[in-house]
Amino acid sequence: PLKKDIIVSGNPYITDDYTNVTDRILSHVGKNLHLQQYHPLNLVYQRIVNYFYQSFLNARRNPIFSVYDNLAPVVSVNQNFDSLLIPTDHVSRSKSDCYYVNRNYLLRAHMTAHQSELLTAGLNNFLMVGDVYRRDEIDRTHYPVFHQVDAVRLKTRDEIFPNDNKLQIFEKDGNTESFGGQEKQSCHTLEAVKLMEHELKTTLEGLASHLFGNVKFRWVDTYFPFTQPSWELEVFYENEWLEVLGCGIMRQPILTNSGVKDRIGWAFGLGLERVAMCLYKITDIRTFWSQDSGFLSQFKTNDINKTIIYKPISQYPPCKCDVSFWLPENAEYSSNDFYDIVRSVGGEIVEQVQLIDNFTHPKTKKTSHCYRIVYRHMEKTLIQEEVNKVHQKIADAASLNLGVTLRQ
Ligand code: PHE
Repeated sequence: PLKKDIIVSGNPYITDDYTNVTDRILSHVGKNLHLQQYHPLNLVYQRIVNYFYQSFLNARRNPIFSVYDNLAPVVSVNQNFDSLLIPTDHVSRSKSDCYYVNRNYLLRAHMTAHQSELLTAGLNNFLMVGDVYRRDEIDRTHYPVFHQVDAVRLKTRDEIFPNDNKLQIFEKDGNTESFGGQEKQSCHTLEAVKLMEHELKTTLEGLASHLFGNVKFRWVDTYFPFTQPSWELEVFYENEWLEVLGCGIMRQPILTNSGVKDRIGWAFGLGLERVAMCLYKITDIRTFWSQDSGFLSQFKTNDINKTIIYKPISQYPPCKCDVSFWLPENAEYSSNDFYDIVRSVGGEIVEQVQLIDNFTHPKTKKTSHCYRIVYRHMEKTLIQEEVNKVHQKIADAASLNLGVTLRQ
């Protein structure tokens, strides 16, 4: 088979049987919306950084957190998964969840991918901000490219127990094996973990009120392969509990593998779009990619803390079309494969794709899927004829590339 080079952020990569990035997805690389002046994602990003600058000062009253917002989005499988102790058979590694450049490289699925390299560089307090890529459903709150802020804070024994010289942060005979639950890691002392948990939670509650004002919040126990214990912070916003971030006490082998022997750490990761959608009342996540002045001009302010309520430029009517096909019998099929075809061919006019029927014929055992695609242009009214053409192209591309058989 022909080995083809692709260029991502200026570097060539040889494609292989793992390659599933599309030109459409690659067209987002380097856009760096979080760095664009007056962009809502940039406003939220700056507010978060300010909070950390104000909250953590050294003895000379200088901020101790450093910020990395320009790390290239192609990372190795080792960075995205192995260095974070994500098991080799974990679902998050699958081709149907990630955009692989080839077997060894992918577009990062989370900013946590850079944690180990920055620890190895010797940093103790840092923020990482950037674009992340995930194959996912298509609707008003999901887009395959979004932005995250991740943070790490490490502390020594003396920093955790400044007024005591007996208390320890590591158990003498504790190993670094994990229990997978809410239990602390056995290598840590309970008193150190409790103090770290307390600082982590008060920091993040403070961040939530810095962003949302006086809101109700709650902590929910959860699981991440790279933290233990782990929590999610939910905020009560417009009558529902909204998950805003994940966090926890860093698994100790991540630190030791990066050459850190005498510290324990906490970490968190948060989605910028989620926060910006709530803060500015933006209802469709595709809006962030608009370079239309009707959108951008509403965020043109030099006061990053200003209250802004986004007024949709206008809502144009949607156009719905269905497509049904039999799934291939001797090949793998995942709905995410179809979603990427829809994205590549339909582009920005696709608002949502729903699997509305999933049927297996009792005799032939063949399975058929029916998807409803909602088309809506952000800046004009779509004509049915125009939509039909795109819809037909999507159906043709699916039958050509996925081995599905179109029905009717
Ligand atoms: N990487 C996690 C995510 O993308 C968030 C996270 C970061 C959780 C750091 C814990 C610690 O969902």
